[in-house]
Amino acid sequence: METRVAARRSLPPLVAQLPFLLLILLTVSSCAAAATSDLVIGEDYVRPPARRHRKALLSLFPWRKKKASSSSSDPQQVHISLAGEKHVRVTWITDDNSVPSVVDYGIKAGTYTSTSQGESTSYSYLLYSSGKIHHVVLGPLEDNTVYYYRCGGQGPEFQFKTPPSQFPLSLAVVGDLGQTSWTTSTLNHIKQCEHDMLLLPGDLSYADYMQHLWDSFGKLVEPLASTRPWMVTEGNHEKEHIPFFESGFQSYNARWKMPYEESGSASNLYYSFEVAGAHIIMLGSYTDYDENSDQYAWLKADLAKIDRKRTPWLIVLLHAPWYNSNWAHQGEGDSMMTAMEPLLYAAHVDMIIAGHVHAYERAERVYNGRLDPCGAVHITIGDGGNREGLARRYRNPKPAWSVFREASFGHGELKILNSTHAHWTWHRNDDEEPVRTDDVWINSLAGTGCIQDSSRELRKILMAP
Ligand SMILES: *[C@@H]1O[C@H](CO)[C@@H](O)[C@H](O)[C@H]1NC(C)=O
Ligand SMILES: [Fe+2]
Repeated sequence: METRVAARRSLPPLVAQLPFLLLILLTVSSCAAAATSDLVIGEDYVRPPARRHRKALLSLFPWRKKKASSSSSDPQQVHISLAGEKHVRVTWITDDNSVPSVVDYGIKAGTYTSTSQGESTSYSYLLYSSGKIHHVVLGPLEDNTVYYYRCGGQGPEFQFKTPPSQFPLSLAVVGDLGQTSWTTSTLNHIKQCEHDMLLLPGDLSYADYMQHLWDSFGKLVEPLASTRPWMVTEGNHEKEHIPFFESGFQSYNARWKMPYEESGSASNLYYSFEVAGAHIIMLGSYTDYDENSDQYAWLKADLAKIDRKRTPWLIVLLHAPWYNSNWAHQGEGDSMMTAMEPLLYAAHVDMIIAGHVHAYERAERVYNGRLDPCGAVHITIGDGGNREGLARRYRNPKPAWSVFREASFGHGELKILNSTHAHWTWHRNDDEEPVRTDDVWINSLAGTGCIQDSSRELRKILMAP
């Protein structure tokens, strides 16, 4: 069994997948459609020169991938995520199938006082077979504490810090990350900023059917993702659906398991979690969201559980933006917005953060297309640095709700100071330096008249069958 897996994995990935590439080209996939709609938007749209995946060429020569120094039982692509209150999930991959899914950990370097046992999975996709993907939940853990840990009972020591249980809370935010040299600058800038957790509103690796690129992405983000929880939701590039061959989301679901069970959801494609005084909902733009869908029913149930006294901040992430004045992907979020915006408005969501459009845009509080002091602040931050480049062309005149828009790569930081005040900044990658470019204080809706006004409306929506 193991030998077969090893043999299949050593096929040169491009050559092995050539017959399927043609099929993919013929398939109406959202990623092809998205790229095309970007390209035809107008004559004055200038896409910057594309940057390749950092390691794409190397992967054509699989014999060069072997590093003599690392053993097949060593942990690769280590990342962590929250897994319910006071728990963290550690995920890593080994080539060696005999490595146990255990994590030893403790609060002193080299001294492991606890051990957790977890589960493992793997997947096949076309001719590719993944390594052994381990998921181990640790806890209960202390808040705001550094833990040292070791994966699979051997190998190097890693460390992470758990988030605080109270404000202040610092969140790094980046979308549409990819794995180019633009991505590397963004990750370097995020590393320089103190943050408790990273939020990613979709489009992670841009592997786009080439499964070994999920592995190189995992390696690229490990230095950050093994030290702070990464909470992600899916974008169109996670789908990798091929009619009659692949059902979609195999790689994403296997590698980026999020706390959906812990939040009462039946799908890894949408879930919620709480951290300090924030309730954060990760929605799925690429699964059903209409009023009869499982996601909609789950969202209603999740919103009904929120206690704004305990979690005064309510933040939602999703991939395809609802308020976007860039020509790229114009209107793609509209049907989801029609289905879900009234529900989120009635629940007094403070912020809705999206990706997909490769640029940055911030909107005032808005609802139903109009400025509304009880609506959500919308942010589009699909500018992590993927290989497709920037979306530079905007609709004019600028809509009344759009406050700031710029087509540059960068990342955002949300520092929630207390139950009412948060400071949002967007940092552009300017000649490889992070430059704070947008800067605004955001007040939560908790404690404002908004909540009084529409609580009856929310109850009506939540109680509706
Ligand atoms: C929250 O922080 C802001 C900014 O520092 C401050 O002005 C405000 O008084 C604080 N509010 C509470 C409730 O502590
Ligand atoms: Fe996207």
